[in-house]
Amino acid sequence: MSDALLDRLTELKHDRNAVILAHNYQQPEVQDAADFTGDSLGLSRQAASTDADVILFCGVHFMAETAAIICPEQTVLIPDPHAGCPMANMVTARELKAKKAEHPDAAVVCYVNSTAEIKALSDLCCTSANAVEVIGTIPADQPVLFVPDQSLGAWAAKQLGRDIILWPGYCPTHHRMLPEHVEAARKAHPDAEVVVHPECLADVVAMADHVASTSGMLRYCSESSGTEFIIGTETGMLYPLRNQNPDKTFYPVTELADCPNMKLTTVQKMVWALEDMEHRVEVPPAVAADARRAIDRMLELG
Ligand code: 13P
Ligand code: SF4
Repeated sequence: MSDALLDRLTELKHDRNAVILAHNYQQPEVQDAADFTGDSLGLSRQAASTDADVILFCGVHFMAETAAIICPEQTVLIPDPHAGCPMANMVTARELKAKKAEHPDAAVVCYVNSTAEIKALSDLCCTSANAVEVIGTIPADQPVLFVPDQSLGAWAAKQLGRDIILWPGYCPTHHRMLPEHVEAARKAHPDAEVVVHPECLADVVAMADHVASTSGMLRYCSESSGTEFIIGTETGMLYPLRNQNPDKTFYPVTELADCPNMKLTTVQKMVWALEDMEHRVEVPPAVAADARRAIDRMLELG
């Protein structure tokens, strides 16, 4: 990364009064150029507390959209407008309305990996860091409909010991990791702990020593007395894990777990975004107002 490019980014950040947020999966140079890195929950909280005029969101579209819902007064930019999340597109508003009609008594909980329209149709939003806590606030005798991630929903259901109506969505990146990959990694590194994201297949989750969101993984691995870890999530996560734990060793479950959308952000595109004030992420006010209710109920949980 050239110093000139980074200097230009710093200059623009100052001129625009911008804050740069980057997800833990972003490329190393993007994470290094950010003011804050984190998981979906942490970045939502950062967005909620910033007084910057511009939020440059280095992640995928639903994350920038969540920031736009929380911060209607600020301009939210995404460096590459094609950075979407395939899982978020696995449920449409029309489909969810039909499902809600089938289960009129159900509380609808949406994973933050969903569009603004889906959040607007939901009672509560959650991330992988707080899904169990959020669903736990719903009375035990009320049915729960969880969209769109069947893996996270099934894992939360197991933790809570309750039935949840699951939507058949999934993350194509996390579902690339198979039990045989975990088996092979354990054989190669018998002393390593296996730490996976709840978006993984149930069979993979069942083989793990610990299940956590991306920031939960960072916390767990730095606090653990273990020195070797097999990581079951998008491979970008290895960068912050290695960076923050230079004395520990991290192996991916498989190199196949790559999210091409997360990799679309580059420092060049970040500079272009602040120069041109593009690409703006905006949510129609009526949709944003309804979506915000579901997000606020999550953020209020602390
Ligand atoms: P986290 O909230 O754990 O960072 O996960 C976001 C995501 O998209 C995982 O694939
Ligand atoms: Fe979406 Fe999966 Fe990429 Fe996360 S890793 S942004 S859930 S496709």
